[in-house]
Amino acid sequence: MKWQRKDLLGLEDLSADEINLILNTASSFKEISERPIRKVPTLRGKTVVMLFVEPSTRTQTSFELAAKRLSADTVSIAASTNSMQKGETLKDTAKNIEAMKIDALIIRHSSAGAPRMLAKVLTPCVINAGDGSHEHPTQGLLDIFTIKEKKGRIKGLNVSIIGDIMHSRVARSNIWGLIKLGANVTVCGPSTLIPPGIEKMKVKVTTSVKEAITNTDVLNILRIQLERQKGKFFPSIREYMIKFGIDSEILKGAKKDILIMHPGPINRGIELAPEIADGPYSVILNQVTNGVAVRMAVLFLLLGKRKAPFLEPSKKGRF
Ligand code: CP
Repeated sequence: MKWQRKDLLGLEDLSADEINLILNTASSFKEISERPIRKVPTLRGKTVVMLFVEPSTRTQTSFELAAKRLSADTVSIAASTNSMQKGETLKDTAKNIEAMKIDALIIRHSSAGAPRMLAKVLTPCVINAGDGSHEHPTQGLLDIFTIKEKKGRIKGLNVSIIGDIMHSRVARSNIWGLIKLGANVTVCGPSTLIPPGIEKMKVKVTTSVKEAITNTDVLNILRIQLERQKGKFFPSIREYMIKFGIDSEILKGAKKDILIMHPGPINRGIELAPEIADGPYSVILNQVTNGVAVRMAVLFLLLGKRKAPFLEPSKKGRF
């Protein structure tokens, strides 16, 4: 199949074939990052702008490296230094960036739907790098890529996602992608952090970590969003650790080849014990490595087919 979309806004929009196309493309790009010279000319002449209105370490760096390894030019605009601080609207900021002739805008924003709003008004590709509690499609893709790389398949696997399901864009993108590819997904967390009606996404729901771990092939542990704890979704961090924290004791009931995943950033000792984060089942840093290949694939599919830029200055329209 051929990639047809201008934008990547969420895994809810994609078919299983489209997800597989990205995963297969990422597979062929992964080797580039292993070379002594980690660069190919594929996107030479393209310009990619990163507008991160929320903090990021992994996603922003990974997109920037992905674009640079494909020889695109990159510009990063930080939350603290953009003109939205002076009252400019997101749409005006984006239209001004577009006016400088760019090929892709990668946006992280605290409001769900911000990337979709921009995709409707911009000609460049728009890539969602995380919008509020809605979706984080490239995180979902890199998680699925890592599972497939380690387990050889997605169909029929049992995947449990543990933690703050309610506020997690990572959980939503994982669920959409994994269900489309035929995995069995269980979500687990305090009942106050499980959104009502999530069963409609074809997931199983439990508040028992023991149940979520038993017979699961993959445990994806979410970050407890301490900044949202003002809402008192659980009585205390200590209580959360005791009931939902993953440590070697609770993992005694797990399969011997379980994969431990976490999208980062980790609250060490809260949702995940350090010995598990750094232990033999953990593929957390593999996820980060694979993120670059997945984002190279996304940029290639979205931008690779776009018209090549002029190599010489035009003689037309000179003053
Ligand atoms: N996983 C993830 O989105 O991490 P960052 O917030 O560091 O980008």
